[in-house]
Amino acid sequence: MEQADIKATVKSFYAGVAKERQTTCCKSKQNPYGEQEDIVRELNLGVSCGNPVALSSLQAGEVVLDLGSGGGLDCFLAAERVGEHGLVIGVDMTPEMISKANGNKAKLGVANVEFRLGEIERLPVDSSSVDVVISNCVLNLVPDKLAAFKEIHRVLKPEGRACISDVVLLSPLPEDVQKDPEAWAGCIAGALPKETYVELAREAGFSRIEVMSETSFGKEGMDERLKGKLQSLSYVLRK
Ligand SMILES: C[S@@+](CC[C@H](N)C(=O)[O-])C[C@H]1O[C@@H](n2cnc3c(N)ncnc32)[C@H](O)[C@@H]1O
Repeated sequence: MEQADIKATVKSFYAGVAKERQTTCCKSKQNPYGEQEDIVRELNLGVSCGNPVALSSLQAGEVVLDLGSGGGLDCFLAAERVGEHGLVIGVDMTPEMISKANGNKAKLGVANVEFRLGEIERLPVDSSSVDVVISNCVLNLVPDKLAAFKEIHRVLKPEGRACISDVVLLSPLPEDVQKDPEAWAGCIAGALPKETYVELAREAGFSRIEVMSETSFGKEGMDERLKGKLQSLSYVLRK
């Protein structure tokens, strides 16, 4: 599939998720948030594959950037931790997701979070301005992952860190799945082999890559042929 077609498919799929028309496909079996706080029960769209906020040791006053922020759940969890002197920016390319996140923000009355419409490959964020990048089950959806890692590197401060949960491949997918637009939107077809993925992060300039957790990625109604081929990987990148 062409990159533009993949992006259009992904955008239209997540517009459906935002409007609650689409309720299956990317729904993972795991609950990566563990003990459920009220906010998780209320805002979880069920399209996450990890809990990057839990891994990120956020400090009061930090600037956090969430890539592919969806309905904003991780942004709100991060906002509690960085407090009133911190800031959380959520970026998402799907206008319906930005509207949903802004609706949630108004409902919660949170002041230190803002949502920006934009693409990870061209982030609407200043260079060297972010302490912590987080992202939850999104980079697999980006066709040009090297561009994504380069943008993460550009916006992070020199001592900054990126805490990312994503889906990677343990063994090759059947060819028809690789070409299936729905499998792209469902966080499957865009997953790269773990070694390739880590190599792209290095190529973008990250010298330290620490794996925090690896769990098998299973989804509701998952095709038998895919079982055991996908993994949720949570890791921290430093320059
Ligand atoms: C699987 S959902 C995850 C949402 C959220 N992180 C969560 O855990 O609930 C993926 C989100 O990433 C967004 N997205 C996908 N590709 C993107 C890109 N290239 N640039 C910006 N946002 C993107 C989609 O619009 C969607 O909201």
